[in-house]
Amino acid sequence: MIAPTGVSAVDTACRALLGTPVVRANQLSASASTAVYRVILTDRQIHESVIVKVYAGHTRWKASKEHLTLAERSGCPAFGVPDVVASGQIPGHDLTALVLTDLGPHTLHQTISDGIWPRRDALRLLGRLLNAFHHDPGCRDRTRTQVVSQLVLDVRTLRDRLPEEVRWRVQPSLDRLSRPAQHNAVSCHGDLHFRNVVFRAGDPLPYLIDFEQATDAPAEYDLAQTAVTTDALASDDLASLMTGYLGPTSRVLLTDLIIFHTLRGWWWAARQEGRDVVLWQARLTQVLDQYA
Ligand SMILES: Nc1ncnc2c1ncn2[C@@H]1O[C@H](COP(=O)(O)OP(=O)(O)O)[C@@H](O)[C@H]1O
Ligand SMILES: [Mg+2]
Repeated sequence: MIAPTGVSAVDTACRALLGTPVVRANQLSASASTAVYRVILTDRQIHESVIVKVYAGHTRWKASKEHLTLAERSGCPAFGVPDVVASGQIPGHDLTALVLTDLGPHTLHQTISDGIWPRRDALRLLGRLLNAFHHDPGCRDRTRTQVVSQLVLDVRTLRDRLPEEVRWRVQPSLDRLSRPAQHNAVSCHGDLHFRNVVFRAGDPLPYLIDFEQATDAPAEYDLAQTAVTTDALASDDLASLMTGYLGPTSRVLLTDLIIFHTLRGWWWAARQEGRDVVLWQARLTQVLDQYA
């Protein structure tokens, strides 16, 4: 976790990148390589509050990817993204910061918890947003046929690590995914779930955040990732997501990628890092029963 270096590093970042110190910083999330803070600044007339996302030095490339994606996706008619206020290395720390406009506290997750949105409608919205993300007319990446070699590599790496008692259950799916094949690749968000959609007060557009996992892959890659991380694996939930998406998709590829994302999450989060063990074990059991 990079959190312990947190608030003082955030203060240094704001002094260096914005020329103003921090009054208060609340940590919103932390992982092995990033931490996110909502920051109140002294110069309230310039920025009442900002979001500071801090990346450990060895994951600087994630900050660059997020920055690039935010620049590419600003101005899309179907969704908004936060503006990048500043970015750069934090002096005296092996950390990189991205300072973003604060869209406020209302995530799609919160609207479901508060009973404002039924989960089914939220899943449909995620489907619509994925479709808009994949077919954003302003984005440099258009749908094209290509061999998605990173995915093939990731599948093979995972397959080699899995314990035998799991691997034999999913072998046909992983074998299909690990063969180089021509796919209709699109620019994927890579991590679209209920906490990565934010509603801004007085603005009808939903906003997307968190582009660290953005990658070129088949549309089914994103749909499967969203289905797994929102626990939309039951058939009616998956149907809501797919109804929102509405684009042409392959059921076999979707199923194979649901298996892949579940195994990858289970392997890295639960088995390697000891995080959310019960959650990932339950997802694995459900996917093996229902999809393998
Ligand atoms: N620009 C923003 N405006 C408002 N809230 C944000 C913004 N960026 C991030 N957040 C909040 O911080 C949380 C974590 O940020 P995120 O970029 O998703 O990082 P992580 O990789 O930790 O999920 C989000 O779920 C959201 O609640
Ligand atoms: Mg997130």
